[in-house]
Amino acid sequence: MSNVETVNLGFLGLGWPGEQHAIAAASLPGAHVYAACDLGAERREKFAAQFSPERGYAQYDDMLADPAVGAVVVSLPNYLHASATLSALRAGKHVLCEKPPTMNVAEVESIRAEAKARGLVYAFSRQSRFNNKMLAGRQIVDEGGLVKMYFAMGERVRWAGIRGGGGGWFLEKSKAGGGAMIDIGVHALDAAWYLAGCPKPVSVSAQVSANFRRTVPAEVKFDVEDSGFAMLRFEGGLVMHLEVTWAGNMTDAVPKSPWAGHELENTTLYGDQGTLSLNPAVFYTMREKERKATAIQTGPETNGFDYQMADFLDAVRTGRPPVNNVDQAVDLMKMLMAIYESSDTGAEVRLT
Ligand SMILES: NC(=O)c1ccc[n+]([C@@H]2O[C@H](COP(=O)([O-])OP(=O)(O)OC[C@H]3O[C@@H](n4cnc5c(N)ncnc54)[C@H](O)[C@@H]3O)[C@@H](O)[C@H]2O)c1
Repeated sequence: MSNVETVNLGFLGLGWPGEQHAIAAASLPGAHVYAACDLGAERREKFAAQFSPERGYAQYDDMLADPAVGAVVVSLPNYLHASATLSALRAGKHVLCEKPPTMNVAEVESIRAEAKARGLVYAFSRQSRFNNKMLAGRQIVDEGGLVKMYFAMGERVRWAGIRGGGGGWFLEKSKAGGGAMIDIGVHALDAAWYLAGCPKPVSVSAQVSANFRRTVPAEVKFDVEDSGFAMLRFEGGLVMHLEVTWAGNMTDAVPKSPWAGHELENTTLYGDQGTLSLNPAVFYTMREKERKATAIQTGPETNGFDYQMADFLDAVRTGRPPVNNVDQAVDLMKMLMAIYESSDTGAEVRLT
């Protein structure tokens, strides 16, 4: 028996991420998969068969009007993140919302104001902050293992991974907010930023581009980038390089992937006393001319959704900010939007 206060969760958007959040909730004491909402009957039925929620809804306003729902997990397309999150907060629900937090800075700032005014928890989903490699890496950083951090690299590159190539909202700027950068660049950026302790961003220089339009059927609307490269400066002197592609002609340095042709996902952080790499998870140190490589992964790997849900629920119960807090959501959106602005103007964008 657990004495943990039960939180009734309402799941809004029942695709892959909605399912992962529900699997996480179902594994935790005090988390109840209470309600589910999706416009699609097929997705509602699949979810109901898997998790047996007490309530099913097609319209999210109906789910938000249910007083038994304590917190809402938003896994809708990007263009609905802000409106659904604000509606949920205004209905008095705590919110865990998928990435990217919103499609622009003004939206995430209005979420911050609403959540703070109402004393509700808002968290943005970044499950890679909670996998074992990241947890072990963060421990080394927190214990001062790198001392002066001066360079970080976030890589998320795919050979043939244009999501929605057969249609759908991922390739439309008005619905997704951007392409590869806002879709998977957010993973690369956030992982490197979080590993370094979320320093304050100072400036951004970037270029995004679409190079593989020809691989998508001509009738599919595709007005976003499929690659993006950025350099960001942070307070304290850290610089970050980001390399993000949905598609590209890869070298052998990028390993084969079962679904994206070739794919590489890595986070690297250089310090004057050691370097951390998360894939594979190794801590490199150099004494005199001798290099030491120490594997740092601990325990069985998790996809991070479980620890993330546990953190969100603990924040709901205690009122403390979640690890993925709203101030960081604002900074994350500022960095992503500055990447697009710098690309459009050809100039560095200052954030402080
Ligand atoms: N954390 C991750 O690793 C990860 C992975 C994939 C996607 N995502 C994010 O999750 C979100 C959803 O992505 P997806 O791949 O599931 O997209 P999707 O298009 O497959 O699913 C979205 C679902 O929302 C439903 N929906 C749309 N409008 C609705 C409305 N008004 N009311 C109720 N339901 C509505 C659709 O019917 C659909 O089932 C996106 O923001 C995406 O960026 C995160």
